[in-house]
Amino acid sequence: MTDETTNRPRIVLLTSEMFPFSKSGGLGDVMGALPLALHCKGAEVCVITPFYGRLSTAGHEIRLVRSDCPVGYPWSPVTAEIYRTDYQGVPIYFVARGEYFDRRAYYNTYDGDYFDNCERFTFFVRAALSWCRQFETPPAVIHSHDWQSALAPVFLHFLRQTDPFWKDTKSVMTIHNLAFQGRFSFRLFENCGLPGEAWNLDGVEYYGDFNLLKGGIAYADAVTTVSPAYAREILSPAFGCGLEGILQKRSDRLRGILNGADYSVWDPDSDKYLPCAYAPESMDGKRVCKRALLREFYLADQLEDRPLLCFIGRLRRQKGIDLLFEILPELMRNEVGVIVLGEGNLEFEARLQELVEQYPGRLGGAIGYSEDLAHRIHAGSDIFLMPSRYEPCGLTQMYALRFGTPPVATAVGGLIDTIISHPSPYCTGFTFAKPEPGLFLDAVNRALRLWNDKTAWQGMMERAMRQAFTWELAAEKYLDLYASLGAEFRSDVGPEASPEDEAVLQCNPRTLRGA
Ligand code: ADP
Ligand code: GLC
Repeated sequence: MTDETTNRPRIVLLTSEMFPFSKSGGLGDVMGALPLALHCKGAEVCVITPFYGRLSTAGHEIRLVRSDCPVGYPWSPVTAEIYRTDYQGVPIYFVARGEYFDRRAYYNTYDGDYFDNCERFTFFVRAALSWCRQFETPPAVIHSHDWQSALAPVFLHFLRQTDPFWKDTKSVMTIHNLAFQGRFSFRLFENCGLPGEAWNLDGVEYYGDFNLLKGGIAYADAVTTVSPAYAREILSPAFGCGLEGILQKRSDRLRGILNGADYSVWDPDSDKYLPCAYAPESMDGKRVCKRALLREFYLADQLEDRPLLCFIGRLRRQKGIDLLFEILPELMRNEVGVIVLGEGNLEFEARLQELVEQYPGRLGGAIGYSEDLAHRIHAGSDIFLMPSRYEPCGLTQMYALRFGTPPVATAVGGLIDTIISHPSPYCTGFTFAKPEPGLFLDAVNRALRLWNDKTAWQGMMERAMRQAFTWELAAEKYLDLYASLGAEFRSDVGPEASPEDEAVLQCNPRTLRGA
């Protein structure tokens, strides 16, 4: 067993999901790509994430590196196991404790959130910091993502006052979705290990509750969110989810950094899940994908020559799935096909099932979570529907663009920053002003009219496919941010170059395509 404590990761990313090991949505995708992009830029980075029971470990060698990492929570003798794997040159540490993470789901079941989520993720953050405390040199940056790791900046703020090890470590808090805050009762604050002074109006207290995300925002040295437009929106009550006050107070520390798309996973030219590859200069494969998709969903063959619309995402109000249900009868009158893939709210799932029965051969529905199906739907459809009520960044529209499936989306958050709306001469999709069924339907109708103009549509598809949101660009912005905090993230010692590292730097240019 190597002596792990001689590691010197300068940037430590804390996350509750990381693709391909775990994923419930966009956070998983982001954390599967950002660390690698930082690594490719020469930063020494590692990731710490929970060891879930449903972790996808196939093909990865995972080894135990510490069996008794002291955590001291919820009571003093409690420890965590730390496992490690190397993912394309980046060390990934998994925090394991069966009673907290060895479960079927990550955060909730159909019955609601796990009752002990506060305890689970307090434990995670404390274990992660305890593990970093054993490194030979302190991290330059601890970068937390969402409420599950939001307590790290809070702990760090107080640790810096008592433990010289941490004195130069900076903290960054990235908000992927402000609607999920990790709000719990005061009772859980009492034994979490933070000093009483953290409980204040500018700290973790929120209307008498313990609010983890608010704590992260309040104490982090820098706060980011995942698109410039969302960074502006969340300062207003309409999008601030009640945290606009603390965000306004910290607005000098807040910035929006647009996510990238991982084109090594999401590119129709090299996608392992598609029946046929295609690219802007050779689009025949897209028709093959469409035909196969229609068959897969038992939809009418005549739809081959009509527009096929799709929706992929969580079946929740955020994503505006109810708006799609509302305009569906009108769409069906237009002789189009529609495919929906998603899971989430039980009521929406039931409604989808009813509608599928109502429109056999025209509406296809898949309830559940399927990575490969998501790829095939992106490829085989003509138009991607994304009527989100709010969207911090949104990755699915970026994937749709790359697959030549122009999106019709609400003009909110990251959708504003990624879609160039018709009728601009550079248009790559269609946006509409507000999440209202009438406006959504108008925008879909605009798209359907343009679809009839084959030359114009072909032009739009090509422009969409050539738009590139690279992780390289996002990683540069994060590195600038770390540097602006005075963090020294390139170690004097230099990374231990392994053959694996070199393979990543030289052989994975598709991750950085379009850069
Ligand atoms: P969010 O994180 O808000 O759910 P994003 O657009 O950022 O939205 O990312 C969603 C990610 O989850 C994408 O990779 C998308 O393909 C995936 N996804 C969402 N729902 C499903 C599903 N039912 N099956 C497969 N993948 C899904
Ligand atoms: C969240 C947001 C989504 C964003 C993703 C990754 O889940 O809802 O808009 O793309 O995080 O940052």
